[in-house]
Amino acid sequence: MQRSGKKTIYGWTSTKEQVELTLEKTIEQIHQDALKELESASDEESIKAISIRYLGRKGAVTQFLRNISNLPEDIRPEAGKKANETKTNLDVLFKKTLKELDTSSWKTDDQIDVSLPGRVTPRGSLHPITQITQKICAIFIRLGFDVAEGPEVETDYYNFEALNIPKNHPARDMQDTFYISKNIVLRTHTSPTQPRIMEKQNPPVRIVAPGKVYRCDSDLTHTPMFHQVEGLLVDKNISFGDLKGILTTFVHQMFDPETSLRFRPSFFPFTEPSAEVDIRCVICKGKGCRVCSKTGWLEVLGSGMVHPAVFENVGYDTTRYTGFAFGMGVERIAMLKYGIDDIRKYFENDLRFLRQF
Ligand code: PHE
Repeated sequence: MQRSGKKTIYGWTSTKEQVELTLEKTIEQIHQDALKELESASDEESIKAISIRYLGRKGAVTQFLRNISNLPEDIRPEAGKKANETKTNLDVLFKKTLKELDTSSWKTDDQIDVSLPGRVTPRGSLHPITQITQKICAIFIRLGFDVAEGPEVETDYYNFEALNIPKNHPARDMQDTFYISKNIVLRTHTSPTQPRIMEKQNPPVRIVAPGKVYRCDSDLTHTPMFHQVEGLLVDKNISFGDLKGILTTFVHQMFDPETSLRFRPSFFPFTEPSAEVDIRCVICKGKGCRVCSKTGWLEVLGSGMVHPAVFENVGYDTTRYTGFAFGMGVERIAMLKYGIDDIRKYFENDLRFLRQF
């Protein structure tokens, strides 16, 4: 096929009609030729070669377009349009064929190496704090407790007042927190779940309440957000002996059946009497080390007999019922269990740390 020269552009002849007819035929011929060639091409290389033969710099379609200026003026537009259409059509077709070839090869079994190892989806795991929370709750569930939950954004009433902590009471100092508004706070402890549950339910009450709590505190052993598990048991004839029994069982199951406990007098406005519970240092077994500040004891939770004022606030008959409550910091328990010395590690999201659990 001759593709240049004034007289021979695809059979250019003298009359306009003839020229148009011939032009159409010839550009159509080029198109057909290209399609035919493409049909018998089966690999990337040959498709690319055909593309170059027709659309490349010296390709048939390109040459045709280039020579249009040599045609009689009146047929140029039509010839140009046809040639451009052909060019676009072929271009789209070449690209599509190449793409299909790409994916059709996937379907060919002999091109898939079935012996290659699969890609393993990395498995996540529960955060250590979640794991310990679940462990703590599981121990109490076995002892007959239910699990309850309260809101993290709490009213001043449930967080303080219902728990016998009046406005301006110095005990509020220990639990400075984040105020959403004058009477709405981020709860400073899980204790507000106590009055919330008791308002809804008559004794007997036997619940644990895990969750996040907030305080304006931040150092090696304190983060502004941390976790607690609250416990509350109310029934007839509940004594401090029951409190000791339940908490001793808990410590023995959580740590080691040999771990000894110590109940140290303390103060909470919502319990009377109140006690802080220490366990024999799990690191040095009581010899005295850095973790227990050489005392041999570690403080793990606060507890006490529910104060009658709290019962009155929820309408419980203080002559019929007694109960105990306790609250423990989950991070602290987890630190002791795993031997972690910096509470902030829990919340830095360093996978090298988290993957160990
Ligand atoms: N809510 C107390 C605290 O966060 C702990 C506690 C709970 C003490 C229940 C006594 C009874 O410090």
